[in-house]
Amino acid sequence: MEVKVTRASKTGTRPKDEDLGFGTVFTDHMFVMDYKEGQGWCDARIEPYGTFSVSPAAMVLHYGQAVFEGLKAYKTESGKVQLFRARDNFARMNRSAKGLCIPGIDVDFVMDALKKLVKIEKDWIPETMGTSLYIRPFMFATDPYLGVRAAHTYRFFIILSPVGSYYAQGLQPVKIWVCEDHVRAVRGGVGEFKTPGNYAASLLAGEKAKEEGYNQVLWLDGIELKYIEEVGAMNIFFVINDELVTPVLNGSILPGITRYSVIDLAKKWGMKVSERKISIDEVLAAHDNGTLKEVFGSGTAAVVSPVGEIRYKDRVINIGDGNPGETCMKFYNALTAIQYGQAEDTEGWIEFVE
Ligand code: PLP
Ligand code: COI
Repeated sequence: MEVKVTRASKTGTRPKDEDLGFGTVFTDHMFVMDYKEGQGWCDARIEPYGTFSVSPAAMVLHYGQAVFEGLKAYKTESGKVQLFRARDNFARMNRSAKGLCIPGIDVDFVMDALKKLVKIEKDWIPETMGTSLYIRPFMFATDPYLGVRAAHTYRFFIILSPVGSYYAQGLQPVKIWVCEDHVRAVRGGVGEFKTPGNYAASLLAGEKAKEEGYNQVLWLDGIELKYIEEVGAMNIFFVINDELVTPVLNGSILPGITRYSVIDLAKKWGMKVSERKISIDEVLAAHDNGTLKEVFGSGTAAVVSPVGEIRYKDRVINIGDGNPGETCMKFYNALTAIQYGQAEDTEGWIEFVE
């Protein structure tokens, strides 16, 4: 399938790198394609970024049949543009799509389309360490129909946004609040898929956490409210003694690409890594007996983010001395060195745009 390109007649200006936050500025163009029954994905095009119309009866607006992804392009010191594990994101998108009864995409085709789009928007990619071009692919049901069933028509977009750090405080430790009266996902549900409903389900608890002065919610399992799952937009890691522990994937946790990268690096470095069930009580006990060394989250937007405080019921525990821990920084430095082309990509995680 050809990708038809229509250039924007007016172009915007990229903010200065130091003014970039997360997800508020968008580039001049976007990639779009449609899905029609009998035709499959069709009418692929790169066109000026802008609003579009759907029917008020579009199924996504009523029943939430949609999936999305989040990945990044980085500019290296030599001016090359590279994508980090992009194929893994599109593979996950296809798994999410399957879980939501949305037709899958051809990963090779979409990778080519993404490269074409990023090439056009090259000047929008910020240059300093810690900034990048955030890539948001998403697809959703468009049939104008009020009955509940899987749709027959869909639209797929890729939009681009130059970003700085996800948390306003950058790499300073974040505060997380363990939620005991809401759950994000349950076994057999859609927790492992990147679908908007999971984020909608997290909002009420997220607002409560914010009111209490916390950045994000740490979710417990939906059955016993005992085992740790993940944070709002990150997977979670604990350093207990010299063991790196992260909750085992159980169907209700998003299988983070950064999570896999941290695990792979840790194994390569000879660290003891455990993907296992870990309860909030174990974390509190490890804190009390002095074996909880570090806590950090991992995610595309957040990279690796230290956690400095956890609140559970009326207990508040502080981890570290207010600065990012040594292990967290080791992962941060190793990952960003690969992402920004400063270290050799020995794992095959990088794909060049040009
Ligand atoms: N968990 C949730 C709920 C997320 O939204 C994200 C972000 O994408 C992650 C974990 C981390 O996943 P990844 O490392 O693929 O960005
Ligand atoms: C990401 O890390 O890419 C995310 O999608 C997290 C969040 C902004 C939803």
